[in-house]
Amino acid sequence: MGKTEANSAKEEEVRSVRLAEHPAFRFVEGLVQRLCADDGALPGAERAQARTYPAQATYQGSSQEAEVQHPPVISRYLDQAFGWAASHGFDDIVDPLEQIKAQIPWTPGYSDPELGEAFAENFAYAEIVGPGGLLRTNDYSAGLTLFAPGTLYEWHNHPAVELYLVLCQGSTWALHQPPFEAKAPGEVVLHPSNAEHAMTSGDQPFLAPWLWLGDVQSAAQFTRDEKGIRSI
Ligand SMILES: [Fe+2]
Repeated sequence: MGKTEANSAKEEEVRSVRLAEHPAFRFVEGLVQRLCADDGALPGAERAQARTYPAQATYQGSSQEAEVQHPPVISRYLDQAFGWAASHGFDDIVDPLEQIKAQIPWTPGYSDPELGEAFAENFAYAEIVGPGGLLRTNDYSAGLTLFAPGTLYEWHNHPAVELYLVLCQGSTWALHQPPFEAKAPGEVVLHPSNAEHAMTSGDQPFLAPWLWLGDVQSAAQFTRDEKGIRSI
């Protein structure tokens, strides 16, 4: 090994140590462990993908270290949601998120007149790792969804395969069609590629980290029928 090769090997070693220590990466590691721990929740192919993606992904470094402005729903409910999750055994997920809380790049609710102003004000999601995340990769995407108590996230779909970890009480979930099914904290929810799904919060804020596999570049879109956005 020449001097240059030795240097680049050393640089690679330093880079991977920094990556492993990044709170966003520790969040993903905790999330993947939780998603894969429940053998019954995930088909083998999705579990195998989820296990290997974070470690095998190519990372382009981190960005957006500055504090960012959070939407009102986050200012109102994030601390409550994190506090509940941390005190109910999910500190492996919440502790790394607390370290980067000020930098999480939240996207506020979709503003669409068909959805009404309440949804735009009461919903937000954030990509923490992925093409637009704090830690950049094009190979997969991971982040958080949070919405206010008593909120419906109408039918939507996307090409990516989506895995959610439930970190709140009272949420209900539907895949393809009603009825909505209550999910307990710690349960894993799988949405196959392009499958329509919808969720509601109960009397607590809805907090659920997610992992996207496959086509992570194409955004989610609301499902439309002849009357507009499909509603329950
Ligand atoms: Fe989704």
